[in-house]
Amino acid sequence: MRIFRAKTYKDMSRKAANIISAQIIMKPDCVLGLATGSSPEGIYEQLVTWYEKGDLDFSQVTSVNLDEYKGLTPDNVQSYRYFMDSHLFNRVNIDKSRTFLPDGLAEDAEGECKRYDALIESLGGVDLQLLGIGHNGHIGFNEPEEAFEKGTHCVALQESTIEANKRFFASVDEMPKYAYTMGIKTIMQAKKILIVVSGREKAAIVKKAFFGPVTPAVPASILQMHNDVTLVGDEEALAELEK
Ligand code: GLP
Repeated sequence: MRIFRAKTYKDMSRKAANIISAQIIMKPDCVLGLATGSSPEGIYEQLVTWYEKGDLDFSQVTSVNLDEYKGLTPDNVQSYRYFMDSHLFNRVNIDKSRTFLPDGLAEDAEGECKRYDALIESLGGVDLQLLGIGHNGHIGFNEPEEAFEKGTHCVALQESTIEANKRFFASVDEMPKYAYTMGIKTIMQAKKILIVVSGREKAAIVKKAFFGPVTPAVPASILQMHNDVTLVGDEEALAELEK
């Protein structure tokens, strides 16, 4: 694993955006695995800036997102489709018909998971997967103690995840209790993985995930077994790692 130390959130976002733009330049028709959350927001902001300056072209890029809440419509401001549209897709020249997320409104949950895995396979897999990490070590919505070998599936969110994400909703009752997520198996099949971490409150889980034992109790720990992982963190998030 390569670790890049950034001074601030902004610096972290810029370094990570550089890696994504290198991917697009080297392979204009690449498949990007994208993520939501506060960690990648700055990356999207930076990519939009470079696009506006004429330095980046998304016209041949395809994207598949990690996860989506179950039951939210795409125009719900808390849906991950809405997040991606407003932070990136509506602001660059990506072909919207080639931006994919699990369908939160699908009636047949199991069928939706199969469809999403088949879609990723038909695209030839993910070239570069962007990830954040939850406080309990989750990646996507793969919560602790789930089997590592799962593909896309529908999960019941854990109390700590509901607690962490409820701030975005008017009340906790409005927050969905289920979500679709690529599984660990899906994530591990990506050719390259880029994980971004920021803030003091992530320092303990970063140490545990990348320098502790590989265990389903800490889903992100499996990334230690992937052969092309880049971790970009700000000083606070990397504070517990040895320099
Ligand atoms: C959510 C998302 C994850 C994300 C995590 C951390 O639960 N499903 O993909 O990594 O939150 O989010 P943040 O970056 O806001 O800390």
